Amino acid sequence: MKKIFIFYSLIILTVFGFIYGCSEVKDNVVMAPTTSFHGEGWLNPASTNFHGKTIAADNWNPGMCKSCHGADYNGGTAQVSCLTCHENGPESCNTCHGNDNHIYPPKSLFGNTLNTQTGVGAHDKHMNSDTTQRFTAVVECEECHLPVSSFSDPNHIANTNSTATLVFGNLAKTVTEGVTPNPTWDKGTQTCSGTYCHGNFKNGNTTNTANFITPNSAGCGTCHGNPTTGNPLPGGTHPQGWTLNKCYLCHGAVINSAGVIINQSRHVNGAVDFGVNN
Ligand code: HEC
Ligand code: HEC
Ligand code: HEC
Ligand code: HEC
Ligand code: HEC
Ligand code: HEC
Repeated sequence: MKKIFIFYSLIILTVFGFIYGCSEVKDNVVMAPTTSFHGEGWLNPASTNFHGKTIAADNWNPGMCKSCHGADYNGGTAQVSCLTCHENGPESCNTCHGNDNHIYPPKSLFGNTLNTQTGVGAHDKHMNSDTTQRFTAVVECEECHLPVSSFSDPNHIANTNSTATLVFGNLAKTVTEGVTPNPTWDKGTQTCSGTYCHGNFKNGNTTNTANFITPNSAGCGTCHGNPTTGNPLPGGTHPQGWTLNKCYLCHGAVINSAGVIINQSRHVNGAVDFGVNN
């Protein structure tokens, strides 16, 4: 019994001494950390400690990491390069919004990917590079946002609430005979009203509003013509009595005899094309 007691006491002393000895050298020797510098979840987008969330919480400023990871994000004193995962650097335009094909959402800032979700909405409908996905000209970013030429452009991340700034460009303000648009964005209802593009033009449906997160709310007939039947024939002083398959007689550069828009870049571009065929 006594022998066993001594035996265990020795073990305890040895272990304790070992720990004590270790903690003594800790001050002088850099140890391999048992947990990583940034803690659990730093690389897991689902974690509350995810590095992207830390950056978002600092108003989306990846520059906060430069002191240790280098001015060029390529390692620095931490010797961990951001470029291992963010091939073109963390400030490249699709790191926080967009995807491999484009920089507009989806994905949105907080990861939304559906066109029925805020932040994503109808971006694709306005800008898809595939012409079969649009029946209008491509709408450039600066027609709805202030122009952003680089990550640190003062127009970019201009506010602190993780919300894009809607500032309309020239297209939405195009003046036609008797109609001066007053484009307005209502974030609460996610609607645009008073825009040239969606009906504020001569003989257009001037009271029409477009909902950014309701797909198909801007179908044929909503901006000009009859929203119920989908017939796009404008009212007012526009020549009356024509059907969809006859528009081409006067607007042949834009639409064909099947009623299909054949030149998207000339539709909703700010100019009426009639009497021209190319
Ligand atoms: C005070 C210095 C310091 C700052 C500031 C800092 N880091 Fe680090 N980071 C380190 C060190 C040291 C390591 C390497 C040790 C480690 O992996 O735990 C590291 C490792 C990493 C890793 C690799 C982690 C792993 O598990 O492989 C990532 C990713 C990272 N940091 C991202 C960031 C981001 C993003 C920021 C800014 C929000 C940032 N760091 C700010 C010091 C820093
Ligand atoms: C080991 C891989 C890895 C490293 C290293 C890494 N990241 Fe990331 N980072 C990711 C992943 C994964 C995402 C999430 C991508 C997504 O959700 O589409 C991400 C997202 C981000 C985002 C977007 C945040 C958001 O919420 O959308 C920023 C900004 C970012 N990282 C900055 C950095 C910086 C700065 C460093 C270096 C200091 C760094 N990252 C190093 C993997 C990494
Ligand atoms: C037709 C108008 C329009 C065009 C063109 C447009 N946007 Fe947007 N954008 C919006 C609207 C509307 C919102 C939603 C604002 C809100 O809900 O706060 C938005 C939001 C955003 C957001 C914030 C997303 C979020 O998570 O809240 C980003 C980033 C963005 N746009 C980038 C772009 C870029 C980049 C382009 C050009 C490639 C572009 N947008 C073109 C209308 C547009
Ligand atoms: C670190 C994350 C991050 C990166 C990288 C990033 N953005 Fe953004 N971007 C944002 C945030 C956040 C917003 C919302 C605006 C705000 O918060 O004021 C935004 C909004 C925008 C908008 C809408 C206009 C606005 O500022 O409201 C455009 C256009 C845009 N970004 C273009 C770009 C371009 C071009 C690049 C590459 C040069 C880029 N972004 C890289 C985070 C980022
Ligand atoms: C007989 C010739 C003719 C036919 C057919 C015709 N248009 Fe037009 N359209 C015009 C002319 C001319 C203008 C320019 C009127 C102006 O500037 O006041 C015009 C202008 C427009 C405009 C701009 C709004 C306006 O009234 O100025 C729209 C939209 C339009 N047409 C759509 C259509 C559609 C859709 C069809 C077929 C359903 C169609 N048009 C058939 C001659 C025609
Ligand atoms: C988003 C609003 C909108 C929708 C939806 C829309 N149009 Fe238009 N359309 C316009 C505007 C604005 C014009 C004025 C001329 C311009 O800017 O191109 C126009 C003009 C036209 C014209 C006259 C030729 C020209 O100059 O472009 C034709 C034809 C036409 N639209 C047919 C159609 C057809 C067919 C549909 C349904 C497939 C349709 N539109 C849906 C906004 C719209």
